[in-house]
Amino acid sequence: MTSSRLASTGRSLVLIGDVRDRCHELLPEEQLVLEGLSERRRAEFSTARVLAHQAMQRAGLRQAPVLRNTDRSPRWPDGLQGSLTHSRGLAAAAISTTLAGVGIDLEQQGRLAEAAATRILTAGESAVLGDLDGDFRWLATLAFSAKEAVYKSIYPAVGLYIGYREVTIALHPETASFTARYLGNNPANAVLEAGRGEWWCISDVVLTRFEIEPTPPATAPSSRSEGELACRQR
Ligand SMILES: CC(C)(COP(=O)(O)OP(=O)(O)OC[C@H]1O[C@@H](n2cnc3c(N)ncnc32)[C@H](O)[C@@H]1OP(=O)(O)O)[C@@H](O)C(=O)NCCC(=O)NCCS
Repeated sequence: MTSSRLASTGRSLVLIGDVRDRCHELLPEEQLVLEGLSERRRAEFSTARVLAHQAMQRAGLRQAPVLRNTDRSPRWPDGLQGSLTHSRGLAAAAISTTLAGVGIDLEQQGRLAEAAATRILTAGESAVLGDLDGDFRWLATLAFSAKEAVYKSIYPAVGLYIGYREVTIALHPETASFTARYLGNNPANAVLEAGRGEWWCISDVVLTRFEIEPTPPATAPSSRSEGELACRQR
């Protein structure tokens, strides 16, 4: 693939492209982060960010740097949610100005061996995937990728590590979509249950995307009830 491709559904804009060294196209602040990165990482890092810049441009936004926090999560410009991924010579970037969170992940199809799958999947997920039509390794890799997309969508807001078995994924093959349930103990992470995911197969890789809508603001008390309250307090 030489040109970027666009996932045109959903609330985020996703661009995908071949990984190559694009360091010379980075913004000056991003170039400062390159020091110490291997050749492969420089290519992945720069391609994902150039795609993010192109997505900003397509969305009518000014191109701004995507730096890195000390925990290695991406630092997006104010007002922007986004996610980056790279695998098997492909990279992708997603951005949104309206979502509460977006996460994307690329994985080589069927990469998860059965032994590894038992560390990633809950017992319930393994049973459900075993009953679905399709190769177990392919389905397990899809669920793995979905979990990473979910994690990337929520980490910027909540900031806590989530174990693979703290989230369970329900795949809906008829619509190539998925939902997630949180099994852990931190109530802040439960917001991921309101999100929705999708997947696409691109040659031998799968791209997953998970989007979390903002929570509607609590209804403000009307001015009449504020007035009534003020009357009672007098
Ligand atoms: C962080 C993690 C999701 C990255 O996934 P990966 O398959 O190793 O790598 P990818 O190429 O898909 O993604 C790399 C990008 O993830 C982003 N990233 C790294 N840490 C992140 C975080 N905490 N939150 C959001 N994005 C993060 C970075 O932008 C990175 O790209 P960059 O280094 O060029 O900036 C993974 O390594 C990890 O730690 N997972 C454990 C937690 C988890 O997934 N739990 C699942 C249950 S919800």
